Amino acid sequence: METLTQTQWLLACHVEDAIENGGVCLKLADQQVALFYFKRRNEWYATQNECPHKRQMILSRGMLGSLGETPKVACPFHKKTFALDTGECLSGDECAIKTYPVKVEDGRVFIAMAR
Ligand code: FES
Repeated sequence: METLTQTQWLLACHVEDAIENGGVCLKLADQQVALFYFKRRNEWYATQNECPHKRQMILSRGMLGSLGETPKVACPFHKKTFALDTGECLSGDECAIKTYPVKVEDGRVFIAMAR
């Protein structure tokens, strides 16, 4: 039997639940997701919460910043940084993180994930 995977917009939270210039951890589609509200840039990002370096569920607690025009998050443990838009590791390692599209409608934040 073939399993079909569809991408769906899932309600993550309300805008007022987010932390300005920080992240929150959510469980969506059985996965831990880090949702970031980068208020200085008026941008939202979602990534996996697991840092691939030592497999810690921690990225939602990371510090936001920019590398040029690239928004990034630094893992609180060993400070490896990841691009929030592409998931690329900016610290020179091979590991990358999953990213998910985010949209805001009527004060509600949605994340697109495969189900
Ligand atoms: S666990 Fe994230 S950088 Fe080491």
